[in-house]
Amino acid sequence: MAPLPIRLYPDPLLKKVAQEVAQWDSSLQCLINDMIETLYHSPGVALAAPQVGHSICLTAIDVSRSPRAGENHGLIILINPRIIQWEGEHRFREGCLSVPEFLTNSVRAEKVRVKALNRNGIPQEFHCEGLEAIAVQHEIDHFEGKLILDHVRSPRDLFRRKER
Ligand code: NI
Repeated sequence: MAPLPIRLYPDPLLKKVAQEVAQWDSSLQCLINDMIETLYHSPGVALAAPQVGHSICLTAIDVSRSPRAGENHGLIILINPRIIQWEGEHRFREGCLSVPEFLTNSVRAEKVRVKALNRNGIPQEFHCEGLEAIAVQHEIDHFEGKLILDHVRSPRDLFRRKER
């Protein structure tokens, strides 16, 4: 296991539509372990496989370390996730490990129900709210080649991040 280098905007891989995961083999398990380690070495709360050079629908999310986290599931691995229910709407200021210099305002659902496969290929469903719901929506954007910069509608939605 080793933390992986994180690709930064404007790396073209971040703009690609990711492929669904179809094979549950040891290289997938290895990648998942490396992504978990990379996530915990980073200041972020979620990491999508395209950010570490794999254009597949796989993400590791753990918002529990954030002071902004509400109720959450701790570490979750989502493979081929689909949001099946959205509720509410709020404007949220978010960052991305691949866009380290900026924060942006985006409009997101407050709560989502997401269906995904876990690391063993077993279907599961999570009801997520608050920061965890934002993270799920943010990660699925990564699979569609979308970054937080794509949510910027006006210069007032873009903020330069202070050093961290
Ligand atoms: Ni991101």
